[in-house]
Amino acid sequence: MLTETDVSQLDPTGLQRQRRHLQRLKNEGIFRKTVLVHEDCAPYIDKLKRHFRYPDSAPIFREFADRLEKVKPINVAQVSQLSPFRYPGGKTWLVPNIRELILALNKKPRHFIEPFAGGGIVGLSVAAEKLADHVVLAELDDGVAAVWEAILTNPEILCDRILAFNLTQDSARRILEESETGIQQRAFQTVLRNRVQHGGILAPGASLIKNGENGKGISSRWYPQTLVKRIRLIYLMRNNISFIHGDGFEVVRAYQNNSNSFFFIDPPYTAGGKKAGKRLYLHNTIDHEYLFLLMSKVKGNFVMTYDDSDSVRKLARNFRFKVTLIPMKNTHHQVMMELLITKS
Ligand SMILES: C[S@@+](CC[C@H](N)C(=O)[O-])C[C@H]1O[C@@H](n2cnc3c(N)ncnc32)[C@H](O)[C@@H]1O
Repeated sequence: MLTETDVSQLDPTGLQRQRRHLQRLKNEGIFRKTVLVHEDCAPYIDKLKRHFRYPDSAPIFREFADRLEKVKPINVAQVSQLSPFRYPGGKTWLVPNIRELILALNKKPRHFIEPFAGGGIVGLSVAAEKLADHVVLAELDDGVAAVWEAILTNPEILCDRILAFNLTQDSARRILEESETGIQQRAFQTVLRNRVQHGGILAPGASLIKNGENGKGISSRWYPQTLVKRIRLIYLMRNNISFIHGDGFEVVRAYQNNSNSFFFIDPPYTAGGKKAGKRLYLHNTIDHEYLFLLMSKVKGNFVMTYDDSDSVRKLARNFRFKVTLIPMKNTHHQVMMELLITKS
């Protein structure tokens, strides 16, 4: 087929011939379609080109498209953000998968349990979309817990402090160095820490953002209005969300025999040589073997998420759990692989 430039250089008879040719193709159901192609995919598109003209190829393309949908990395930016945290290791990108898994159940879960809640984005999304009757979040970290407790009990004190705060390197340091008293003070300190330290890391040792994005320095992640909006939205859902400041294992045990509970397990993880969990969280060590054993006993459904490592795969095999490898794109646009572990 001639290109646009070729067509413009045709004499009138050539042009008519080309039009007749295009019309004939159109009658056969073949038409021109423009697509945007990444350079990595271009050679394969070229190989496929001639197959696009045959209707018999359609079922194969349909199957191919379905498979591509499944491997397409989920972009964090595509999911609406409800959490006031920018949580290191946060699972915003996993929300669509969890939604799909819950909707595939034949019964809406009575309890959605997130025992290692962190920023709790999955639980919040489940609550917002009413995918379960009630959401239970649990977290051991005192600072993170204070934020959840402040939001679910008396959010306006926190909102006022956020809105009134004049953020500079000095004012941030002053707040972060205070030896806090009470939930509200600790909650504000944690929200601030999460916004002004590199990567949102709350664990000791994280440093303050200096240059930040677009030359905005320490304020580059400080969005008071957005934070307050999210906090108030969570408060509106307070009747459907419970927060437990405590050990996630105990929370799992408490719901272990309830067959209408759905567990979302995203524990801190330090295996696989990366040891990232150590740097990211104050509470970074748990007994993974015991966690797997515990999950093998729960009556409800569950999803566990882990870095892809031999030791985790081995544990999953030992307990005959199903392992699915899923790609995700992190905030630096790198594609990473994660394991989703479910009941088989
Ligand atoms: C990978 S993060 C969870 C991130 C969360 N899924 C999100 O999207 O924001 C793991 C969390 O488990 C918490 N944690 C560690 N040990 C715990 C325990 N025994 N009980 C409850 N929480 C724990 C850590 O403080 C950390 O916040």
